[in-house]
Amino acid sequence: MTEGIEVRRVRADEWERVRDLRIAAVTDPNAAIAFLTTPEQERAHDEAHWRKRAADAASGDATAQLIAEAEGDWVGTATVLVRPAGTTDHTGRTVYHRRADVVGVFVRADHRGQGVIDALLDAAAGWTASLGLTRLTLDVHTQNTRAQAAYRRCGFVPTGVTFTSTIGPELEMARSLSPQ
Ligand SMILES: CC(C)(COP(=O)(O)OP(=O)(O)OC[C@H]1O[C@@H](n2cnc3c(N)ncnc32)[C@H](O)[C@@H]1OP(=O)(O)O)[C@@H](O)C(=O)NCCC(=O)NCCS
Repeated sequence: MTEGIEVRRVRADEWERVRDLRIAAVTDPNAAIAFLTTPEQERAHDEAHWRKRAADAASGDATAQLIAEAEGDWVGTATVLVRPAGTTDHTGRTVYHRRADVVGVFVRADHRGQGVIDALLDAAAGWTASLGLTRLTLDVHTQNTRAQAAYRRCGFVPTGVTFTSTIGPELEMARSLSPQ
């Protein structure tokens, strides 16, 4: 674990912090090649939206939002979405086999390059493996070279799948997980 950083799952009552971190993420200078929503779209959501989002991410086997905390501040986040077979993912692609995807990856600028992303992705891998899944996937914009480099260091490799989403050309990367 990175010194001074604790990674844990959000709690349902932390919806305001979930909202604020998401708005910070989509306001990042690189947001156009990182996130599928805009600050305007996120700010338009009402309290009920954020309460549900936090509650859904806090418990159960479908969604887990992980946050990295440094001295009480939330400095990063990553969310795992488990997609059942037969559903459609957020990019409109059909899911043929139950799959776990990492989405909403963000580390605050003043905490980058310090291993926060490694700790978040390790926690995401651990949570996913605890469900019996053996693979964790994510999508990354082809121009988001910093994120790609971080993902490679954290054990993700390109799967060869490429596609175009609403933010442009993306590639899929995957990390193999040890069965638990
Ligand atoms: C993506 C993100 C989570 C990565 O976390 P981070 O703390 O910045 O990552 P690190 O600094 O540990 O690693 C970045 C890697 O990219 C390299 N790098 C840094 N700047 C770079 C750049 N401009 N272009 C290419 N590679 C770059 C670093 O050298 C490092 O690689 P290395 O370990 O092989 O040396 C963070 O930058 C972020 O939140 N970015 C904005 C949101 C985003 O892009 N999210 C991902 C959506 S898929």
